[in-house]
Amino acid sequence: MNTMTIAIDGPAAAGKSTVAKKVAEELSFIYVDTGAMYRALTWKALQKGISLENELSLAELLQQTDLNLVQSKNGQRVMLDNKDVSDEIRTDDVTNKVSIVAKHKLVREEMVRRQQELVKDRGVVMDGRDIGTHVLPDAEVKIFMIASVEERAERRHKENVEKGYQSDIQQLKEDIRKRDEIDSNREIAPLVKAADAIEVDTTAMGINEVVARILTIVKEKS
Ligand code: C5P
Repeated sequence: MNTMTIAIDGPAAAGKSTVAKKVAEELSFIYVDTGAMYRALTWKALQKGISLENELSLAELLQQTDLNLVQSKNGQRVMLDNKDVSDEIRTDDVTNKVSIVAKHKLVREEMVRRQQELVKDRGVVMDGRDIGTHVLPDAEVKIFMIASVEERAERRHKENVEKGYQSDIQQLKEDIRKRDEIDSNREIAPLVKAADAIEVDTTAMGINEVVARILTIVKEKS
């Protein structure tokens, strides 16, 4: 049970990270947010003015980049070359460009290698797009979390409003759709449900309900 691996995949803004974090807490497992790793590389490339279409430069940049997910009293923080970039990687600019960076084979190979390193001999909940299919193909529990685009945009909009950010629900819908399309149609490790994943449609579910559902699935498998 302590070394169990739980893979949570699904489209953008389906609530994966909120749920994954809570499931990890309940089980005293570590939580790995793989999207944050692609976001951090995107942020660094934008800072350095590197073209997001330039696979070789991005792969080289990643080789020179130290990426760490660390626990702090403010939750999980994303450290890039010892700088906390947790807030920077959530900007609209990074969100709308990260899928371009995540298309590249050389980038993905190195990210997957790092993600697999993090798991060795420990209980882990990992969320992303290719966890059940590529990163942890032997995960004991695989969840594919979905929700309608309308519901996902609505949730993001609510979050933005609560944080006092400007937010346009139509724009959010469009951005989410676009990101899903790139992630689902890329050549390398596209977003697909693993054959042995359990689909959880969260459109009409609250967070605690989804967490409880996943914990039940985990219990059944352990
Ligand atoms: O999960 P999050 O929305 O933060 O992920 C940001 C982006 O990173 C995704 O839209 C996708 O392009 C990429 N990603 C990926 N594979 C993963 C995790 C994220 O391609 N395992």
